[in-house]
Amino acid sequence: KKPGKFYNEPLLDFAVKADREKMLKALAEAKASLPVNVNIVINNKELQSGKIFDRVNPSQSDQIVGKIQMATTEQAEQAMQAAQTAYKTWKNVPCEQRAALVDKLADIMTRDRFKLIATQVLEVGKPWAEADGDIGEAIDFCRYYARHMRELQKPLRVGGLPGELSHYIYKSRGVTAVIAPWNFPLAILAGMVTAAAVAGNTVVMKPAEQSTVVAWGLMKMIQEAGFPQGVINFLPGYGEEVGEYIVNHKYTTTIAFTGSKAVGLHIMNRAAVVQPGQQHVKRCIIEMGGKNAVIIDNDADLDEAVDGVIYSAFGFSGQKCSAASRVIVLDEVYDRFVDRLVETAKSIEIHPAENPKAYMGPVVDKEAYDRILGTIAEAEKNHKLLFKGSVPGGGFFAPPTIFGDVPGDAKLAQAEIFGPVVAVIRAKNLDQALDIANSTEYALTGGVFSRSPANINRVKEELEVGNLYVNRGITGAMVDRHPFGGFKMSGIGSKTGGPDYLKQYMEPACVTENT
Ligand code: NAD
Ligand code: ALA
Repeated sequence: KKPGKFYNEPLLDFAVKADREKMLKALAEAKASLPVNVNIVINNKELQSGKIFDRVNPSQSDQIVGKIQMATTEQAEQAMQAAQTAYKTWKNVPCEQRAALVDKLADIMTRDRFKLIATQVLEVGKPWAEADGDIGEAIDFCRYYARHMRELQKPLRVGGLPGELSHYIYKSRGVTAVIAPWNFPLAILAGMVTAAAVAGNTVVMKPAEQSTVVAWGLMKMIQEAGFPQGVINFLPGYGEEVGEYIVNHKYTTTIAFTGSKAVGLHIMNRAAVVQPGQQHVKRCIIEMGGKNAVIIDNDADLDEAVDGVIYSAFGFSGQKCSAASRVIVLDEVYDRFVDRLVETAKSIEIHPAENPKAYMGPVVDKEAYDRILGTIAEAEKNHKLLFKGSVPGGGFFAPPTIFGDVPGDAKLAQAEIFGPVVAVIRAKNLDQALDIANSTEYALTGGVFSRSPANINRVKEELEVGNLYVNRGITGAMVDRHPFGGFKMSGIGSKTGGPDYLKQYMEPACVTENT
């Protein structure tokens, strides 16, 4: 390794027998300790509410994974008070100490990797390799933000007039409300929490209901790393109750949210309302959904294109904001591409997530399952069904499904489904393909498979996406290599794992001195 360079945490290879055996052991241990009792943590003290949410394993819906104490609004108030008090001292803790704590958190995640994977497999139904990718990304976020904060704390000399010394510096903002989704249950939560904390802010973190056991694991690691009391508080609970409460609170200075468009826009609306005693304009870092398209050009390498689309559409059952849900295929190659896509889709292995053979596991819960099956049923009435897989019972398994000749403006081709459903759309040429691709309100990820440099260049210039991938799948952004995030209705934050991300959690200040 070259000194000074950032390296991503290598992913595990479960084809290696030793890693496979460690994984099986970790899963057996995790299953033996179910259900996990999850408490609220405020000022490093565990609290209960008596309001219990039973989280079930989506692969096996009669198995309770977690018994979760769902916080009350009174406890949300306590968490805000704790974070506000802790801020008075945390903001003065030297940057190096804050960064060292975040690095230590990454070390603990690395040590506990198999255990952390097992929790995700059981709680959100991620197949092994998908869960491993999430842990790797969480470790990368910690190391990247710690490292970047060390750079940003160095005062930047600006100007150069004789007799005047000016420095551009970054200061923390205050209490940050972190509100996370369940689909990258460790990485996204840990990324937002560590970015806020390493920048000198205190945090109230509200995980998604569906992934609270994973989030509890993060809180335990934060405590082990040694963050002082009140700096990071853990508020499991319902979004409409405690999520809403911390968004509205007068002490909240920054809201870091990742989730659906509906909730993201609602939060922005609420954040604009100034509460009595509030001293900051709340800054909203809002990452939302996608309706991501892959364009298949006439001269595309179809083997690569089919592999890329299958994984981007059906990896983690399509439950990624980055997932491919539209495939726009040029007319000349449409039939050949679609035949191969369907043939390949037939070989997708669907099993409970703990089965190492699972390419696809379940979707996250009954609500998602009902919504996705409803979408498929409605689409079957209006569109040409090309493929619908068969699925096991016992859990929330939604079939991988492909529709063909879907008009670009159909609901199926415009609304985020967040499940294993793909609309294949025919385009007569690249102009039309680009028009269709840009016709949604979202702009998150997108891709093109082509061998034509001129066409690739046009897509680079014209496709409205935050992350564009050429001749590869469109999911799996790596910290530092692919800073991640969208625009239009996909969000207004700067890119996670990129050079502008941390700055959102801080205030730049300019200090000028006559010398
Ligand atoms: P969601 O919007 O339903 O929930 C996200 C979080 O918001 C949860 O913690 C929830 O409890 C909370 N919440 C709900 N109502 C709230 C309210 N009124 N006030 C405050 N908080 C509230 O999203 P989800 O189902 O957890 O995640 C899936 C969505 O997230 C998809 O749309 C996906 O595209 C998006 N996503 C985007 C990115 C990205 O980087 N752009 C990454 C992952 C997921
Ligand atoms: N960062 C995740 C991906 O790129 C969402 O798939």
